[in-house]
Amino acid sequence: MTTPNAALSGTFAIGGDLVVNRLGFGAMRITGKGIWGEPADPAEAKRTLARAPELGINFIDTADSYGPEVSERLIGEVLSPYKAGLVVATKAGLTRTGPNAWHQVGRPEYLEQEVHMSMRRLKLERIDLWQLHRIDSKVPANEQFDAIARFLKAGLIRHAGLSEVSVEDIKAAQKYFPVATVQNRYNPGARGSDAVLDYCEQNGIGFIPWAPLGGEGGAGDKVQAIARKYGATPSQISLAWALKRSPVMLPIPGTGKVKHLEENVAAAAIELSDEDFNTLS
Ligand SMILES: NC(=O)c1ccc[n+]([C@@H]2O[C@H](COP(=O)([O-])OP(=O)(O)OC[C@H]3O[C@@H](n4cnc5c(N)ncnc54)[C@H](OP(=O)(O)O)[C@@H]3O)[C@@H](O)[C@H]2O)c1
Repeated sequence: MTTPNAALSGTFAIGGDLVVNRLGFGAMRITGKGIWGEPADPAEAKRTLARAPELGINFIDTADSYGPEVSERLIGEVLSPYKAGLVVATKAGLTRTGPNAWHQVGRPEYLEQEVHMSMRRLKLERIDLWQLHRIDSKVPANEQFDAIARFLKAGLIRHAGLSEVSVEDIKAAQKYFPVATVQNRYNPGARGSDAVLDYCEQNGIGFIPWAPLGGEGGAGDKVQAIARKYGATPSQISLAWALKRSPVMLPIPGTGKVKHLEENVAAAAIELSDEDFNTLS
Protein backbone atom coordinates (compact mmCIF):
# COMPACT_ATOMS: atom_id res chain seq x y z
CA MET A 1 0.00 0.00 0.00
CA THR A 2 1.18 3.53 -0.67
CA THR A 3 2.09 5.80 2.18
CA PRO A 4 1.54 9.43 1.09
CA ASN A 5 3.58 10.69 4.00
CA ALA A 6 5.04 8.09 6.30
CA ALA A 7 6.52 10.75 8.56
CA LEU A 8 3.11 12.29 9.29
CA SER A 9 4.83 15.40 10.55
CA GLY A 10 7.19 13.79 13.03
CA THR A 11 6.52 12.05 16.29
CA PHE A 12 5.56 12.89 19.86
CA ALA A 13 6.08 10.72 22.94
CA ILE A 14 2.85 10.65 24.95
CA GLY A 15 3.71 10.55 28.64
CA GLY A 16 7.36 10.53 27.59
CA ASP A 17 7.31 6.91 26.35
CA LEU A 18 4.45 6.23 23.97
CA VAL A 19 5.68 7.40 20.58
CA VAL A 20 3.07 8.27 17.95
CA ASN A 21 3.09 10.03 14.60
CA ARG A 22 1.70 13.49 15.26
CA LEU A 23 -1.09 13.37 12.70
CA GLY A 24 -3.73 10.97 14.02
CA PHE A 25 -7.33 10.03 13.27
CA GLY A 26 -10.56 10.91 15.10
CA ALA A 27 -12.97 7.97 15.06
CA MET A 28 -16.13 9.85 16.04
CA ARG A 29 -17.34 10.17 12.43
CA ILE A 30 -17.48 6.42 11.75
CA THR A 31 -20.81 6.38 13.62
CA GLY A 32 -24.30 7.42 12.49
CA LYS A 33 -25.76 10.87 11.89
CA GLY A 34 -25.43 13.01 14.99
CA ILE A 35 -22.71 10.60 16.21
CA TRP A 36 -25.61 8.31 17.10
CA GLY A 37 -26.03 4.66 16.14
CA GLU A 38 -24.52 2.67 13.29
CA PRO A 39 -22.83 4.41 10.35
CA ALA A 40 -24.98 5.03 7.25
CA ASP A 41 -22.38 3.14 5.19
CA PRO A 42 -20.78 0.54 7.48
CA ALA A 43 -18.52 -0.85 4.74
CA GLU A 44 -17.04 2.59 4.05
CA ALA A 45 -16.62 3.26 7.78
CA LYS A 46 -14.70 -0.03 8.12
CA ARG A 47 -12.58 0.69 5.04
CA THR A 48 -11.71 4.10 6.51
CA LEU A 49 -10.58 2.52 9.77
CA ALA A 50 -8.55 -0.14 7.98
CA ARG A 51 -6.90 2.46 5.75
CA ALA A 52 -5.62 4.60 8.65
CA PRO A 53 -2.73 2.32 9.75
CA GLU A 54 -1.89 1.61 6.09
CA LEU A 55 -1.28 5.35 5.69
CA GLY A 56 1.07 5.41 8.67
CA ILE A 57 -1.45 6.61 11.27
CA ASN A 58 -0.73 5.05 14.65
CA PHE A 59 -2.79 7.30 16.91
CA ILE A 60 -6.59 6.89 16.89
CA ASP A 61 -8.96 8.79 19.17
CA THR A 62 -12.35 7.47 20.20
CA ALA A 63 -14.76 7.48 23.18
CA ASP A 64 -17.29 5.17 24.79
CA SER A 65 -20.00 7.69 23.88
CA TYR A 66 -19.42 7.74 20.10
CA GLY A 67 -22.43 5.78 18.92
CA PRO A 68 -22.47 5.10 21.94
CA GLU A 69 -20.20 2.05 21.79
CA VAL A 70 -20.24 1.88 17.97
CA SER A 71 -16.88 3.56 17.35
CA GLU A 72 -15.01 1.47 19.91
CA ARG A 73 -16.69 -1.72 18.72
CA LEU A 74 -15.79 -1.10 15.07
CA ILE A 75 -12.19 -0.30 16.02
CA GLY A 76 -11.98 -3.59 17.92
CA GLU A 77 -13.54 -5.51 15.02
CA VAL A 78 -11.49 -3.96 12.23
CA LEU A 79 -8.10 -3.23 13.79
CA SER A 80 -7.51 -5.94 16.39
CA PRO A 81 -5.18 -7.73 16.72
CA TYR A 82 -3.49 -4.33 16.61
CA LYS A 83 -0.44 -3.56 14.52
CA ALA A 84 2.61 -3.01 16.78
CA GLY A 85 2.79 0.59 17.92
CA LEU A 86 -0.84 1.45 17.16
CA VAL A 87 -2.20 3.56 20.02
CA VAL A 88 -5.96 3.72 20.57
CA ALA A 89 -6.93 6.51 22.94
CA THR A 90 -10.42 6.49 24.38
CA LYS A 91 -12.49 8.54 26.82
CA ALA A 92 -15.33 8.28 29.29
CA GLY A 93 -17.22 10.66 31.51
CA LEU A 94 -19.92 11.75 29.07
CA THR A 95 -22.94 9.52 28.70
CA ARG A 96 -25.73 9.70 26.11
CA THR A 97 -29.50 9.41 26.36
CA GLY A 98 -30.15 10.47 22.76
CA PRO A 99 -28.50 12.03 19.71
CA ASN A 100 -28.26 15.48 21.26
CA ALA A 101 -28.35 14.54 24.93
CA TRP A 102 -24.87 14.34 26.44
CA HIS A 103 -24.48 14.20 30.23
CA GLN A 104 -21.41 14.49 32.41
CA VAL A 105 -21.03 11.47 34.69
CA GLY A 106 -17.80 11.49 36.69
CA ARG A 107 -18.70 9.21 39.57
CA PRO A 108 -15.63 6.99 40.17
CA GLU A 109 -17.54 3.69 40.00
CA TYR A 110 -19.08 4.69 36.65
CA LEU A 111 -15.69 5.73 35.24
CA GLU A 112 -14.19 2.43 36.37
CA GLN A 113 -16.96 0.45 34.71
CA GLU A 114 -16.43 2.38 31.49
CA VAL A 115 -12.67 1.67 31.52
CA HIS A 116 -13.53 -2.04 31.62
CA MET A 117 -16.25 -1.74 28.97
CA SER A 118 -13.89 0.15 26.65
CA MET A 119 -11.25 -2.58 27.08
CA ARG A 120 -13.84 -5.20 26.20
CA ARG A 121 -15.07 -3.42 23.05
CA LEU A 122 -11.57 -2.44 21.92
CA LYS A 123 -10.26 -5.96 22.70
CA LEU A 124 -7.46 -4.55 24.82
CA GLU A 125 -6.10 -5.65 28.17
CA ARG A 126 -4.91 -2.17 28.99
CA ILE A 127 -5.77 1.21 27.52
CA ASP A 128 -2.71 3.14 26.35
CA LEU A 129 -4.31 6.57 26.76
CA TRP A 130 -7.55 7.06 28.65
CA GLN A 131 -9.07 10.53 28.84
CA LEU A 132 -11.67 12.00 31.18
CA HIS A 133 -14.12 13.34 28.58
CA ARG A 134 -15.31 16.12 30.92
CA ILE A 135 -14.70 16.95 34.56
CA ASP A 136 -18.20 16.38 35.99
CA SER A 137 -19.23 19.56 37.77
CA LYS A 138 -21.62 17.60 40.02
CA VAL A 139 -18.84 15.42 41.49
CA PRO A 140 -15.84 16.78 43.44
CA ALA A 141 -12.96 17.02 40.95
CA ASN A 142 -10.53 15.40 43.38
CA GLU A 143 -12.69 12.23 43.46
CA GLN A 144 -12.46 11.99 39.67
CA PHE A 145 -8.69 12.62 39.67
CA ASP A 146 -8.17 10.14 42.48
CA ALA A 147 -10.05 7.49 40.49
CA ILE A 148 -7.79 8.11 37.50
CA ALA A 149 -4.71 7.76 39.71
CA ARG A 150 -6.08 4.38 40.83
CA PHE A 151 -6.69 3.22 37.23
CA LEU A 152 -3.07 4.06 36.46
CA LYS A 153 -1.76 2.32 39.56
CA ALA A 154 -3.84 -0.79 38.84
CA GLY A 155 -2.43 -0.94 35.30
CA LEU A 156 -5.88 -0.63 33.67
CA ILE A 157 -4.58 2.36 31.75
CA ARG A 158 -1.05 3.33 30.78
CA HIS A 159 -1.46 7.10 30.50
CA ALA A 160 -4.25 9.54 31.34
CA GLY A 161 -5.48 12.75 29.80
CA LEU A 162 -8.19 15.39 30.21
CA SER A 163 -10.63 17.03 27.81
CA GLU A 164 -12.10 20.56 27.66
CA VAL A 165 -10.08 21.89 30.59
CA SER A 166 -8.37 25.10 31.71
CA VAL A 167 -4.77 25.52 32.89
CA GLU A 168 -6.12 25.57 36.47
CA ASP A 169 -7.88 22.23 35.91
CA ILE A 170 -4.66 20.69 34.58
CA LYS A 171 -2.65 21.95 37.55
CA ALA A 172 -5.27 20.58 39.97
CA ALA A 173 -5.19 17.17 38.25
CA GLN A 174 -1.38 17.07 38.21
CA LYS A 175 -1.46 16.84 42.01
CA TYR A 176 -3.05 13.38 41.54
CA PHE A 177 -1.52 11.92 38.37
CA PRO A 178 0.78 12.90 35.49
CA VAL A 179 -1.43 14.53 32.86
CA ALA A 180 -0.16 13.05 29.57
CA THR A 181 -2.53 14.83 27.16
CA VAL A 182 -5.19 17.50 26.93
CA GLN A 183 -7.95 17.42 24.30
CA ASN A 184 -9.65 20.79 23.70
CA ARG A 185 -11.45 22.29 20.69
CA TYR A 186 -8.87 24.12 18.61
CA ASN A 187 -8.46 25.24 14.98
CA PRO A 188 -7.52 28.51 13.19
CA GLY A 189 -10.99 29.92 13.96
CA ALA A 190 -11.28 28.57 17.52
CA ARG A 191 -8.39 29.84 19.60
CA GLY A 192 -9.88 29.83 23.10
CA SER A 193 -7.29 27.28 24.24
CA ASP A 194 -4.10 29.12 23.25
CA ALA A 195 -3.05 29.49 26.90
CA VAL A 196 -3.73 25.80 27.54
CA LEU A 197 -1.69 24.86 24.47
CA ASP A 198 1.22 27.01 25.68
CA TYR A 199 1.05 25.36 29.11
CA CYS A 200 1.07 21.92 27.44
CA GLU A 201 4.08 22.87 25.33
CA GLN A 202 5.98 24.10 28.40
CA ASN A 203 5.20 20.89 30.29
CA GLY A 204 5.62 18.23 27.58
CA ILE A 205 1.88 17.47 27.57
CA GLY A 206 0.40 16.35 24.24
CA PHE A 207 -2.30 18.74 22.97
CA ILE A 208 -5.01 16.99 20.94
CA PRO A 209 -7.12 19.59 19.12
CA TRP A 210 -10.63 18.36 18.46
CA ALA A 211 -12.53 19.75 15.48
CA PRO A 212 -9.14 20.60 13.92
CA LEU A 213 -10.91 21.11 10.55
CA GLY A 214 -13.55 23.34 12.09
CA GLY A 215 -16.01 20.51 12.74
CA GLU A 216 -19.12 20.15 10.61
CA GLY A 217 -19.06 23.86 9.74
CA GLY A 218 -15.69 23.43 8.03
CA ALA A 219 -12.90 25.99 7.71
CA GLY A 220 -13.32 29.79 7.66
CA ASP A 221 -12.75 32.26 4.78
CA LYS A 222 -9.06 32.95 5.51
CA VAL A 223 -8.26 29.23 5.39
CA GLN A 224 -10.18 28.85 2.13
CA ALA A 225 -8.23 31.69 0.51
CA ILE A 226 -4.86 30.23 1.53
CA ALA A 227 -5.97 26.78 0.39
CA ARG A 228 -6.52 28.13 -3.14
CA LYS A 229 -2.99 29.55 -3.12
CA TYR A 230 -1.47 26.13 -2.29
CA GLY A 231 -3.81 24.15 -4.55
CA ALA A 232 -4.82 22.33 -1.37
CA THR A 233 -8.13 21.73 0.39
CA PRO A 234 -9.20 23.91 3.36
CA SER A 235 -8.98 20.81 5.59
CA GLN A 236 -5.37 20.29 4.57
CA ILE A 237 -4.46 23.91 5.31
CA SER A 238 -6.11 23.77 8.75
CA LEU A 239 -4.05 20.66 9.55
CA ALA A 240 -0.79 22.09 8.17
CA TRP A 241 -1.37 25.18 10.33
CA ALA A 242 -2.05 23.12 13.46
CA LEU A 243 1.04 20.96 12.95
CA LYS A 244 3.22 24.05 12.55
CA ARG A 245 1.66 25.79 15.56
CA SER A 246 3.29 23.52 18.18
CA PRO A 247 5.46 20.40 18.42
CA VAL A 248 3.06 18.97 21.04
CA MET A 249 0.09 19.28 18.65
CA LEU A 250 -1.56 15.93 17.80
CA PRO A 251 -4.48 16.64 15.43
CA ILE A 252 -7.19 13.99 15.07
CA PRO A 253 -9.24 14.99 12.00
CA GLY A 254 -12.46 13.01 11.90
CA THR A 255 -14.00 11.38 8.85
CA GLY A 256 -15.96 8.34 7.82
CA LYS A 257 -14.64 8.45 4.24
CA VAL A 258 -11.46 6.92 2.81
CA LYS A 259 -11.02 9.77 0.32
CA HIS A 260 -11.12 12.41 3.06
CA LEU A 261 -8.77 10.40 5.26
CA GLU A 262 -6.22 10.16 2.45
CA GLU A 263 -6.54 13.88 1.77
CA ASN A 264 -6.06 14.70 5.44
CA VAL A 265 -2.96 12.53 5.76
CA ALA A 266 -1.43 14.24 2.72
CA ALA A 267 -1.70 17.55 4.63
CA ALA A 268 1.30 16.55 6.74
CA ALA A 269 3.48 17.14 3.67
CA ILE A 270 2.32 20.76 3.22
CA GLU A 271 4.85 23.33 4.43
CA LEU A 272 3.06 26.62 5.14
CA SER A 273 5.15 29.75 4.69
CA ASP A 274 5.69 31.82 7.83
CA GLU A 275 3.63 34.58 6.23
CA ASP A 276 0.63 32.33 5.61
CA PHE A 277 1.03 30.76 9.04
CA ASN A 278 0.94 34.23 10.60
CA THR A 279 -2.09 35.26 8.56
CA LEU A 280 -4.00 32.29 9.98
CA SER A 281 -2.61 32.81 13.48
N1 LIG B 1 -13.01 15.80 23.38
C1 LIG B 1 -14.15 16.19 22.87
O1 LIG B 1 -15.02 16.72 23.56
C2 LIG B 1 -14.40 15.99 21.41
C3 LIG B 1 -15.51 16.59 20.79
C4 LIG B 1 -15.69 16.37 19.41
C5 LIG B 1 -14.78 15.57 18.71
N2 LIG B 1 -13.74 14.97 19.35
C6 LIG B 1 -12.74 14.15 18.64
O2 LIG B 1 -12.11 14.97 17.68
C7 LIG B 1 -12.18 14.38 16.38
C8 LIG B 1 -12.25 15.46 15.33
O3 LIG B 1 -13.35 16.32 15.56
P1 LIG B 1 -14.60 16.40 14.58
O4 LIG B 1 -14.72 15.12 13.84
O5 LIG B 1 -15.75 16.88 15.36
O6 LIG B 1 -14.26 17.60 13.61
P2 LIG B 1 -13.22 17.84 12.39
O7 LIG B 1 -12.19 16.77 12.38
O8 LIG B 1 -12.79 19.25 12.48
O9 LIG B 1 -14.17 17.76 11.12
C9 LIG B 1 -14.91 16.63 10.82
C10 LIG B 1 -15.88 17.01 9.71
O10 LIG B 1 -15.16 17.36 8.54
C11 LIG B 1 -15.48 16.47 7.47
N3 LIG B 1 -14.22 16.16 6.79
C12 LIG B 1 -13.17 15.42 7.25
N4 LIG B 1 -12.15 15.40 6.37
C13 LIG B 1 -12.56 16.15 5.31
C14 LIG B 1 -11.97 16.50 4.07
N5 LIG B 1 -10.73 16.09 3.76
N6 LIG B 1 -12.67 17.28 3.22
C15 LIG B 1 -13.92 17.70 3.54
N7 LIG B 1 -14.54 17.42 4.70
C16 LIG B 1 -13.86 16.64 5.59
C17 LIG B 1 -16.13 15.27 8.10
O11 LIG B 1 -17.11 14.72 7.28
P3 LIG B 1 -16.91 13.32 6.48
O12 LIG B 1 -17.12 12.22 7.46
O13 LIG B 1 -17.94 13.44 5.43
O14 LIG B 1 -15.51 13.33 5.92
C18 LIG B 1 -16.80 15.89 9.34
O15 LIG B 1 -18.05 16.43 9.04
C19 LIG B 1 -13.44 13.50 16.48
O16 LIG B 1 -13.44 12.51 15.46
C20 LIG B 1 -13.30 12.95 17.87
O17 LIG B 1 -12.38 11.88 17.90
C21 LIG B 1 -13.54 15.19 20.69
